[in-house]
Amino acid sequence: MSRRPLLVVVLAAGQGTRMKSALPKVLHKVGGRSMLGHVLAVAQSIGADALSVVVGPGMDAARAEAIAVAPNAKVFVQEKQRGTADAVLAAREALAAHSGDVLVLYADTPLLPPETLENLRARLDDGAGIAVLGFEAADPTGYGRLLTDGAGWLDAIREDKDANETELRVRLCNSGVMAFRLDNLLGILARIGNKNAKGEFYLTDAVEIARAGGARAAVVTCSEDDVLGVNSREQLAVAEGIFQKRTRLAVMRDGATLIAPETVWFSYDTKIGRDVVIEPNVFFDLGVTVEDGAEIKANCHFERARIGQNARVGPFARLRPGAVLGAKVHVGNFVEVKNSTLGVGAKANHLSYVGDGTVGAGANIGAGTIFCNYDGFFKHHTEIGEGAFVGSNTSLVAPVKVGNRAYIGSGSVITKNVPDDALALERTSQEERPGWAAKFRAMMAKRKARAG
Ligand code: UD1
Ligand code: CA
Repeated sequence: MSRRPLLVVVLAAGQGTRMKSALPKVLHKVGGRSMLGHVLAVAQSIGADALSVVVGPGMDAARAEAIAVAPNAKVFVQEKQRGTADAVLAAREALAAHSGDVLVLYADTPLLPPETLENLRARLDDGAGIAVLGFEAADPTGYGRLLTDGAGWLDAIREDKDANETELRVRLCNSGVMAFRLDNLLGILARIGNKNAKGEFYLTDAVEIARAGGARAAVVTCSEDDVLGVNSREQLAVAEGIFQKRTRLAVMRDGATLIAPETVWFSYDTKIGRDVVIEPNVFFDLGVTVEDGAEIKANCHFERARIGQNARVGPFARLRPGAVLGAKVHVGNFVEVKNSTLGVGAKANHLSYVGDGTVGAGANIGAGTIFCNYDGFFKHHTEIGEGAFVGSNTSLVAPVKVGNRAYIGSGSVITKNVPDDALALERTSQEERPGWAAKFRAMMAKRKARAG
């Protein structure tokens, strides 16, 4: 079936005063991505042909985020918040240029699954002029109520403040997500008035006006979670919780083991391969990929990093941006890796900082090794050759290069390049005084006895 083109209008003009934030509400994040970003992404995933975002005056950061996620989005400013119908009309230019379906989404509703929106569109395919996404609210207070006829068609949407006793008892609520297949949508929006309890131009009034013109309005239902709206930090945390729960399930469904799923935190773009095992308390910040068969031990933090096949990381490891671990690499406890590549089978098992480096395949980085990458002004690179052995407590003062299969003696401060297969040692040679300790102990014991 060839479908009508789809314009998605995302409403994001709300101040979000209850967030008590310098940031526009829709830029607060769920799973590491702004709520606006989530909504634009779901619009893209259902194949929106055009995207409009309606922001409030001075919301330049929201505009920038919209363009970053959806470069072809058109951003409109609603000068004054006069209601949801007025907000949609801020995108008048886009509506006028479009012929096809129109879907209205709120940017503070970050958990909408694409399937739910597909269900809504399917009702338009069946001939409905309007399709509204509804849900059975545990507590319907504050929501618009969906008033349906005996056959389930929508008669009207009544806002909470305008509803009578009988209407208030209805638990089927308006999520705010509405889809339109109307030739004269702009005309209908223009006819919406503001004679209501809030003195606002309600988008929901489009239902009664369209019905009077002969169109039918359908209801599609979804879970309350799918349409959770975020107005406060508390609701933001609830949304995050639902997002994490869904992501953990998806990761397990795709073949990874989470020993304690509720303690593992993912970002929206985390990629986890098959047969990956993740122990408790691991945080995946943005941009992390874990390849098949890798083992992530407890208490790790990762950001913009890649973990190769069958690698073993943690416990207590930190991978910072640009950490790329090849297959079978071992990175152990209290090791920090930043902007460095570790070749196949390389190991850094204990207490090390590997920054701005390249570590060859099979190399061993001993306990307490520090890549001294920063001189206070610039960052420098360290290169460790394949199969090299860096002894414990080594400082590698970059820029410096250690050759293939070279050895570094423990405790060395390496400032010069080391050739392949060489031993580099930088420390004073050991001195021994036979019997010294025994004599010293005897002398001190006598002194102590005399002092009483
Ligand atoms: C709206 C619906 C209500 C539904 C509820 C679901 C209307 C009239 N009512 O009510 O039926 O149950 O959402 O949460 O539509 N916005 C603008 N500009 C405006 C007004 C709103 O951009 O002038 C944006 C807000 O930022 C928000 C969304 O539209 O993202 C909804 O507005 P809000 O005022 O919260 O609507 P509700 O009264 O909650
Ligand atoms: Ca609201």
